[in-house]
Amino acid sequence: MSTYQLGLIGTGNMGGALAQAAAKSGASMLLSNRTAEKAARLAAELDCAAGTNLEIAESCKFIFLGVKPQMLPALLDELKAPFSARQDRFILVSMAAGVPLGTIKKTLGLPCPVVRIMPNLPVALGKGVVLISPDDTVTEGELAELETSLRPAGLLMRMPEDKLDAGSAVSGCGPAFMYLFLDALANGGVSCGLPYPQALALAAQTMIGTAEMTLASGKHPGQLQSEVCSPGGTTIAGVRALEQHGVRAAAMDAVIAAYERTCELAEK
Ligand SMILES: NC(=O)c1ccc[n+]([C@@H]2O[C@H](COP(=O)([O-])OP(=O)(O)OC[C@H]3O[C@@H](n4cnc5c(N)ncnc54)[C@H](OP(=O)(O)O)[C@@H]3O)[C@@H](O)[C@H]2O)c1
Repeated sequence: MSTYQLGLIGTGNMGGALAQAAAKSGASMLLSNRTAEKAARLAAELDCAAGTNLEIAESCKFIFLGVKPQMLPALLDELKAPFSARQDRFILVSMAAGVPLGTIKKTLGLPCPVVRIMPNLPVALGKGVVLISPDDTVTEGELAELETSLRPAGLLMRMPEDKLDAGSAVSGCGPAFMYLFLDALANGGVSCGLPYPQALALAAQTMIGTAEMTLASGKHPGQLQSEVCSPGGTTIAGVRALEQHGVRAAAMDAVIAAYERTCELAEK
C-alpha cells in the first residue's frame, strides 16, 4: 500500500508547475529534487512533504519523472533497485519530451506500468494542457485516478502515443509561439504610441478572450474572424497585412519544425 498518492522527482519548471496543479486536487504528495532545498521550498508552499528520490521510489503510487530527457537514463538506473524491491503496484509517469514509452521500459528493464504525459507550463495556473498516453498495462481505474489528481491543471486529453509528439508541438511548444505573437502585438501598439505595459495588457487580454470565445462558440476561427471584419474596415486591413507577411504559414511551419525536431531527438 502506497503512503503517498503522488511522488514528483524533479521539481523544476515543469515538475513544479504540475505539483502546483496537483496540490489543488487534495492528493497526498511527496516531492524530491537534486537541489533538495528547491523541493523543500515548494513542499512548504504547497503544504505537502519533501523527501528523497529513494523515499518516492519506495512509497508513492504515481511516480512523476520531472528531469530533463538526457538525465532520465541515470535516474531510472538509480530507481531500479528500490522499484524491484516493491511488492505493491506503482505507476511511472514520464513527462520527458520525445522519449517513447518503449524506451523508458527498456532503459528501466522492469515490467512497470508507464504513462507518458505532455504538459505545458500554464498548468500551474489551471489553464494548461496535459496530453496523456498510457501503455496498455495501465488500468482504466488507475488512469481515472491519475486524471482526478491532474484535473486542476486544465484540459486533460488522452491520445495514442504516436500522436503525442504532434500534440506536444501545438500545446507544449505553443506557449513560446504565443509569447512571441503577444510581444509583437504589444510592440505594434508601442509603434502607434502606447506605453508597452498598457499595450501588453491589451494584447494578453485579447488573446485570452479570443481563445475563450473560440472554445465557447464552437465556431471555426475563420468564421469568427469574418464576424470581426467590417467590409472596407480597419480590421480587414490588418488581416491583409498579416496574410501578406505569411503569418498563417509561419505559424504552421513553427509547429511542423517543433514536431520534426522532436522526432529527430527521439531518433538519437
Ligand atoms: N518546460 C516545459 O515547458 C516542458 C513541457 C513539457 C515537458 N517538459 C519536460 O519536463 C521535464 C523537465 O523539464 P523542465 O523544463 O522542468 O527542466 P528543469 O526546469 O531543468 O527541471 C528539471 C529538474 O530536475 C531536477 N533533477 C535533475 N536530476 C535529478 C535527479 N537525479 N533527481 C532529482 N531531481 C533531479 C533538477 O534539479 P536542480 O534544481 O538541481 O537543477 C531540476 O529542478 C523534461 O523531461 C521536459 O522534456 C517540459
